Amino acid sequence: MGQTLTEQILEDHLVEGELETGEEIGIDIDQVLTQDTTGTFVWLQFEALGLDEVQTEVAAQYCDHQTYQFDFKNTDDHRFLRSAAGTFGAHFSRPGNGICHNVHKENFAAPGKTMLGSDSHTPTPGGLGELAIGSGGLDVAVAMGGGPYYIEMPEVVNVRLEGELPEWSSAKDVILEMLRRLSVKGGVGKIFEYTGPGVETLSVPERTTITNMGTELGATTSIFPTDERTREYLAKQDREDEYVEIGPDEDAEYDDEIVVDLSDIEPLVAKPSMPDNVVPVREVAGEDVEQVIVGSCTNGGYEDILPAAKMLEGREIDMKTEMIVAPGSKQASEILAREGWTAEMMAAGVNFSEATCGACIGIGHVPASDSVSVRTFNRNFEGRSGIEDDAVFLSSPEVAAAAAIKGELVDPRDLAEELGDMEAPGMELPEKYNGSKTDLIAPDEAVDDDLIKGPNIGDVPLKDPLDAHLAGPALLKMDDNITTDHIIPATQDILMYRSNIPKLSEFTLSRVDDTFAQRALESDGGFLVAGENYGQGSSREHAALCPMYLGIEGVLAQSFARIHKANLFNFGLIPLTIDADDYAKIEQGDDIEIVDDVAEAVESGQEEFTVRVDDGWELTATLDASERERRILAAGGKLPLTRAQYDEG
Ligand code: F3S
Repeated sequence: MGQTLTEQILEDHLVEGELETGEEIGIDIDQVLTQDTTGTFVWLQFEALGLDEVQTEVAAQYCDHQTYQFDFKNTDDHRFLRSAAGTFGAHFSRPGNGICHNVHKENFAAPGKTMLGSDSHTPTPGGLGELAIGSGGLDVAVAMGGGPYYIEMPEVVNVRLEGELPEWSSAKDVILEMLRRLSVKGGVGKIFEYTGPGVETLSVPERTTITNMGTELGATTSIFPTDERTREYLAKQDREDEYVEIGPDEDAEYDDEIVVDLSDIEPLVAKPSMPDNVVPVREVAGEDVEQVIVGSCTNGGYEDILPAAKMLEGREIDMKTEMIVAPGSKQASEILAREGWTAEMMAAGVNFSEATCGACIGIGHVPASDSVSVRTFNRNFEGRSGIEDDAVFLSSPEVAAAAAIKGELVDPRDLAEELGDMEAPGMELPEKYNGSKTDLIAPDEAVDDDLIKGPNIGDVPLKDPLDAHLAGPALLKMDDNITTDHIIPATQDILMYRSNIPKLSEFTLSRVDDTFAQRALESDGGFLVAGENYGQGSSREHAALCPMYLGIEGVLAQSFARIHKANLFNFGLIPLTIDADDYAKIEQGDDIEIVDDVAEAVESGQEEFTVRVDDGWELTATLDASERERRILAAGGKLPLTRAQYDEG
């Protein structure tokens, strides 16, 4: 039987286990990526593990989330990251050089390679045939030290693309259509492999828009085969020698198949405040728009901004609407400027931002209260823009530019008809494509060979091995779909403490209950209770680390998001699954006691645990964990376990 592309790459990198759905496998990692909000802890953990040199083919440290230097804290972090990259042998991308996924795509992503990144949109280079997976920072630190990455073998789903996108529809609409059909939970435990005749009609940047936002489906990753368009893209980046033709065997068998006819795709938007709240733009046309932002790791490339620029050429944006372009990389900024598009857009009324995540996580360009913002980003979770009760619509650059011109949501086809002289933007790419590399410091150009830790860089807190007896109050009961943004908000005023855990922990779950952190500190242990899909969103390991620091022993939830569940194991918090009836019966403040000898039960492979609630009724909770995850949990987390293993030699 033939293999899927995913199976081929995994088999090439397999060091443990068998490629059977649901089985845990260990794979070698070729490349790692980390960014500033997760990176400080990646390096502190790399150091705490006693490691001294990066072992992967490529390791890259980006500074993209917190690039604005309001006071010394971000700047100290940037300097620490530069010094860590220099000391241990990684590439360092300076603040302002761009968003990790965009810069990685341009400089390092290569077909057939495996990549691990401490950011949830790590799957972006899947558009070039790289198998790229998001994980917690500790997994990245271990992989960077040469250790394997462990994962349950996901289902592989064939997404067969037929036809060709019509004018005014874009790759963003393809992934919004997937979200409309499958929801934010539809990809959990799955890898989406794109195949079919529609693939060759999409450029590499279009493919990476789709793989980037596969994360919103909850997918482990998404991947495309390679072809002449991949070769052309790499050639334009002066990396043609890294091209290899890869794709599934003709007789490959998939776990499932979805067919998407590109010819049927129309301009779509995700309404506030979930990426799967998708409708045709025409359904919401006429809604006033006060702000439009084109950019982010999803639609921040030159090819993403160009359609908007062409639509704006010779026009002006609406008087009551503000439009910001935030390129995803300095390369994109440089080409736009070189080709004259920056001036065209400025003349139309656009403001330019440096290449940064910025507004995507509420850092700058916060919308006005009670107003609509249309963004080409990948997430519109409530409050993520920096203001509670926001109304963020996610769209393609074409829909965003149309909204800026009209001052309201409008299908670009209807706007073109109304204006009479607006052509659908084509895509002519300049011959010279790559920008200067001034802001990317290679390991052999490193400016530091020792770590520089300012006062905002703290130590890595460690947990003791798992106790036999776990008990404490249900300190907080939460609903479904709690995101890592709820657990540790990614806004500037909070994330500037990302390397200072005692201070950062004060903000834990403050968006759900601002008394939580104090109550948790005062309580001697305790539990979190949640509904479905707990921990969806980013790979932020602080969302497990801070509850651990506050003394939380475990989480009882109806289900968990994949990366967050791995982070809970990695920091020694027990993730127990409970059913909907029991979830409904537990009340905040109830005493929770795990009746079993927890340490022994975890190590012996026990799956069902008896939980006594309020000294009265009992429920059965399930621990779904591999042998390796059980060893991690018993040791108090992955760091103490790995360090002990290194000590044993
Ligand atoms: Fe940055 Fe937003 Fe992407 S925070 S990495 S632009 S999802």
